[in-house]
Amino acid sequence: MRLPRWFSFVFPLCALAVHGAEYRSTTPRVDSVAPGIWRIHFGNPELFTPTHFRSAPMDTAGLEKMPFSRPMPLDQAQISCRISDRGCSVLLPMTPGESIYGLGLNTELFDMTQTAKGQTGRRLFLKPTDSPENDLGESHAPVPFFVSSDGYGIFVDTARFASFYTGDVTPVGRGSKTMLVDVPAAKGLDVYVFAGPTMLDAVERYNLFSGGGVVPPLWGLGVQYRGYGKFGADESLALAAHLRAERIPCDVWGVEPGWQSASYSCSFVWDTSRFPDPHGFLAKMRDMGYRLNFWEHAFTSPSSPMYRELQPWSGNYLVWGGLVPDFATPQARTIFLRQNDVSLFNRQVEAVKLDECDYQPESPTPWSFPLATAFPSGLDGEQMHSLFGVLYQQTMLEPYREKGLRTWGLVRNSQALAAPLPYVLYSDSYDHRSYVRGLVNEGFGGLLWTPEVRDAASIEDLYRRIETVVFSSDAVINSWFIKNPAWDQVDRDKNNRGELMPERETVTDTVRKLLQLRMSFIPYLYTAFNEYHSTGKPPIRALVLDWPDDPNVREIDDEFMFGDSVLVAPMFAGQSSRNVYLPAGDWFDFWTHAKFGGGTTVEVTNGITQIPLFVRSGTLLPLAEPVEHIKPDTCFNITVNIVGNKPGDFTLYEDDGTTSDYAQGGQNQIQLHANGASHSVLGSGDYHGPPRFKITAWKQF
Ligand code: GAL
Repeated sequence: MRLPRWFSFVFPLCALAVHGAEYRSTTPRVDSVAPGIWRIHFGNPELFTPTHFRSAPMDTAGLEKMPFSRPMPLDQAQISCRISDRGCSVLLPMTPGESIYGLGLNTELFDMTQTAKGQTGRRLFLKPTDSPENDLGESHAPVPFFVSSDGYGIFVDTARFASFYTGDVTPVGRGSKTMLVDVPAAKGLDVYVFAGPTMLDAVERYNLFSGGGVVPPLWGLGVQYRGYGKFGADESLALAAHLRAERIPCDVWGVEPGWQSASYSCSFVWDTSRFPDPHGFLAKMRDMGYRLNFWEHAFTSPSSPMYRELQPWSGNYLVWGGLVPDFATPQARTIFLRQNDVSLFNRQVEAVKLDECDYQPESPTPWSFPLATAFPSGLDGEQMHSLFGVLYQQTMLEPYREKGLRTWGLVRNSQALAAPLPYVLYSDSYDHRSYVRGLVNEGFGGLLWTPEVRDAASIEDLYRRIETVVFSSDAVINSWFIKNPAWDQVDRDKNNRGELMPERETVTDTVRKLLQLRMSFIPYLYTAFNEYHSTGKPPIRALVLDWPDDPNVREIDDEFMFGDSVLVAPMFAGQSSRNVYLPAGDWFDFWTHAKFGGGTTVEVTNGITQIPLFVRSGTLLPLAEPVEHIKPDTCFNITVNIVGNKPGDFTLYEDDGTTSDYAQGGQNQIQLHANGASHSVLGSGDYHGPPRFKITAWKQF
């Protein structure tokens, strides 16, 4: 690509006095990376950063489709970096009233400039944690990328535990509002700037820079049920059969720690007392139409056959008596995968859940490896903690990539540039309100999140939680600590004692319907993911990304967009009503079809089984007849809902749903088009397998 001259120029650095250990960074540069993306290069950056370990090449073609020919959005004269023995401190300009979003999967914070006390400007300390219930900036996925309401994005390419002061610092001699990014240890830094003009543009560029959004296998969008942790083959098969008998939609069966002979740390070997015939177990599950997802964490027990071979390729501290594989080395990856192949991948297990790859930075007894750990690759414990989840995901993805198969796993830690990774984040924290905020925030940083459902405080709490998880990337029911489904008994202790609820039949009926709603939305959600892949637009987004000019949405962290036309406003147990803000445009209540004008707040009193949903006027909403699970030849019967008077087109993506052929042209794009009384479906593409969609009806909503 030929670049315009202004794309590459020497960046004038503010003069810095040389005091003691500080020194002047002499050759800062601004380079063009792609249209609308610049890299500001300060000093000598560290080798081990998120870009060094990227999961996919940048989607240059995708980026060129969103050309940008204006100068860098920030005032260059106001960007500086001071490098000292401590590390790098970068100053970035801010404007009064500017809001900042992102910086990872925060479940407690939204606008990162706001404090609980109503002050503007705070400090976010990006550390991976397993306890995201904090307002410090620690989360399961601390990502050094943010977007600004002024319409640009910034990515600081570091694996250090960086602090972002969002306007809470006043550098001497600088009157205006300033952001400070404090990166310890590094003696240089690459800071990437992503152009708008809107925040959504900046997010899309960041996701394309990361390699584009992931496309899940179709079955990944179905329901996932994870059985009790200590279940053996018999109990698992019995409950799996029971779900089928009850017609509970379910595509994926999750096997928790009990499958391994040792699990904290892990042996990666089957426990043959619980699972005497692994092959037979998998075959029976498959006969019932389940895909399988197996739990593990990376810490490798001395009882594992790979222990001795892995030892030289591990960190110099143990976790739960197990080795910490250095996934930054090909040797550790190969050895680790060889053992996982024997137990899982060669048996065609479709997915894995990668647990415990986060940390407890503030605990007096943090259970994971210390920051002082040395790894053979040269990473230290701090860098490894930042990158551990991503490196683990990459490792476990390899066998699927080699076979040209898609996977859809779970993970408890991630970091920057994660958009192409087929893993969804989850937590133990379990506050429903916080879980919804996770959904609102995930789209700011190329992350996916499941507000998974376990036990519940009441039947109402169970319904409300299931309603929320239905509108997420992975509808996970994680019963790892309850023997019976929560719809048989919501209370954990009673559930495990086998005291089932007298109302369980009605509750089961309701839960079935809620999960069927999920199945109806699969073709629509699949479209949102395919567009995430090609344009970088996140499938689940805060309203402020779609309506950046509406001041009313700036602080809304309990409503989100699900795909392009559905606004979701979850309710919580104990609430009999809530306010829902509807941005510009007309909206239709999903349940009553009542029409509302945009720019207004409406009070909804949806009963406990109807999550508030609003459909944007002027759209086509394809809804499928729910299937119980997705088979290789599943064809969805689709009703196309015509919402409003002049609906735009809608594209359905038809492919085999399981392989990566879709990316090499093996996909049809079926364009739905409604024009007054006449409707049409225009197909195109190179997929020749069983049809996926049958349009059975067109209906005015
Ligand atoms: C936790 C994890 C749970 C479950 C459990 C099994 O760390 O978050 O989802 O897998 O381990 O021991």
